[in-house]
Amino acid sequence: MTSDASRRSFTSTGQLIKLFLSDAEFRNTKERLENLNYYSGREYLDFIVTRYEVASRKINTPFTCVLISDLHNKCYGEDNGTILDRVREESPDIILCAGDLIVGQPDSPFKTAVKLAKGLTLIAPVYFANGNHETEYRRYAKPKYAAFVSKMRHAGVHVLNNRSQDTEICGNKIRVTGLEVSLEKYIKFRKPDCSLEYLEHKIGPCTSENDPYTILIAHNPEFLDVYRQWKADLTVSGHYHGGVVRDPFFGRALLSPYGYVFPKFGVGKRTLSDEHFIIASAGLGDHTIPLRIFNPREIVTIKVKPLTDDNRTEA
Ligand SMILES: [Fe+2]
Repeated sequence: MTSDASRRSFTSTGQLIKLFLSDAEFRNTKERLENLNYYSGREYLDFIVTRYEVASRKINTPFTCVLISDLHNKCYGEDNGTILDRVREESPDIILCAGDLIVGQPDSPFKTAVKLAKGLTLIAPVYFANGNHETEYRRYAKPKYAAFVSKMRHAGVHVLNNRSQDTEICGNKIRVTGLEVSLEKYIKFRKPDCSLEYLEHKIGPCTSENDPYTILIAHNPEFLDVYRQWKADLTVSGHYHGGVVRDPFFGRALLSPYGYVFPKFGVGKRTLSDEHFIIASAGLGDHTIPLRIFNPREIVTIKVKPLTDDNRTEA
């Protein structure tokens, strides 16, 4: 393996498995897993809509976000018409894309992701931040990455890599911030570290009470504790694909992409502190090894509401 190839593969378990299998064995294994998924039921071929609610005193009028993540070039219906139909049914006021729309291999296409993004912009404003696959794409296929971002912007997507943008949604002042961390934060078989200083260097100072309602798009939910300190009102993530295997009773992610079990948080909703929440999607696709157990693919709908006595404890 060349040193370039080694660098490309360091974030991919599938690539690691490839070291121990011939190409034919790897293809067969992948095919068997795809068949296993097929015969395991519809949830592995389709996706569900998971809904959450959050509340904040910064909100005057309720609004709806749809969260899309980890498409990995997967297509549901012609030009992802199935995703577009279901997103439309949710009537979102804003759509958040938490990264990994593509597969970060130099020879990967990006047409599917851009077409979906373009369709989404016709439903509501779309805000996107890179996942590790887009960051890998930039490192190893720079001209293609530049074309991808250019087409996303041309489609009307707000690409926010370590940038913030203020907007107004249903009369509420909203700030959307997109975080992109370096690839060194995605190394396998080692719990990556991240500090508040690192986050502030990337996206600026912590959110304050006087700031607009702040949504942080942060692909990797691993850094939950740092997000808690940064104090976005709502943080949205993906990356874990639901933890590959989830416990069938509580839906908790059981595997981390970093190779250890029982991660602190990988999917669902978690209260970070009063009125500060993180929601991580199980994503819409897979890459390399398409295995999911008790772990349907999903889009996520988040209803953001004003804080009232009724929802003070439940949201
Ligand atoms: Fe990822």
